[in-house]
Amino acid sequence: MPKRRVIKRGGKRRRRRKQRKAEQQAPRRVDKCLVPWAGDMVAAGMVKEFVLKTGCKAVVETGTYKGATTKWFASLGLPVHTIEKNPEFLSVARARLAGVPGTTVYEGSSDAVLPLILPLVPRPTLFFLDAHWEDYWPLKDELRLIAESGMTDARLIIHDCAVPGRGDLQANIAKDVTLDFEMISADVGAIYQGPYHVSYNDGSPPNSPGIVFVEPPP
Ligand SMILES: C[S@@+](CC[C@H](N)C(=O)[O-])C[C@H]1O[C@@H](n2cnc3c(N)ncnc32)[C@H](O)[C@@H]1O
Repeated sequence: MPKRRVIKRGGKRRRRRKQRKAEQQAPRRVDKCLVPWAGDMVAAGMVKEFVLKTGCKAVVETGTYKGATTKWFASLGLPVHTIEKNPEFLSVARARLAGVPGTTVYEGSSDAVLPLILPLVPRPTLFFLDAHWEDYWPLKDELRLIAESGMTDARLIIHDCAVPGRGDLQANIAKDVTLDFEMISADVGAIYQGPYHVSYNDGSPPNSPGIVFVEPPP
């Protein structure tokens, strides 16, 4: 006698519903760096206000990664020169930024590329310094090169810097050293040759990256 196949009604649909539910409940792995300012809207608002208030005419970014902040700055209508050392990130960034007007991506280490860009940018320029994750941390060399260019009107935004009174905000740690403003104050002083103003994203939500803003007096 031929075997009879038993067809369970709704089995396939039930399985699909179960799978969809599991997918919805699974933790989402979003690369935080693909979202500009790690999704911190307070920081995004502060950066935009800083750019407008201080009349920046161009942005130089060190550390492109996959181009999230490059694209964000370009959306403000400014030309953006961005430098990335890692060839893998570079090709992702180039693909994501193709067709984004005003963006130029440079390959190499920021300390080697900055001297080529500095003579080309209009003044005042905003330097968004965000290159790290490697053994060589170029921040001090970047600040030295800006000082050597004579751009006393440079505007600076330094990402992943400790914020006074906000120990929960994230700061870059390299070789057991945490980035705080004290660590770079002499390098920043060499740029302005006089007084300058420092502020922080101290109103950002808990655990956001810390940001320091530096500008010369008006
Ligand atoms: C925090 S990510 C940049 C994130 C990006 N600015 C954003 O917010 O979307 C740091 C990047 O700096 C790059 N980097 C590290 N050292 C560098 C150097 N000396 N010159 C240029 N880029 C460097 C890393 O490869 C990495 O992509």
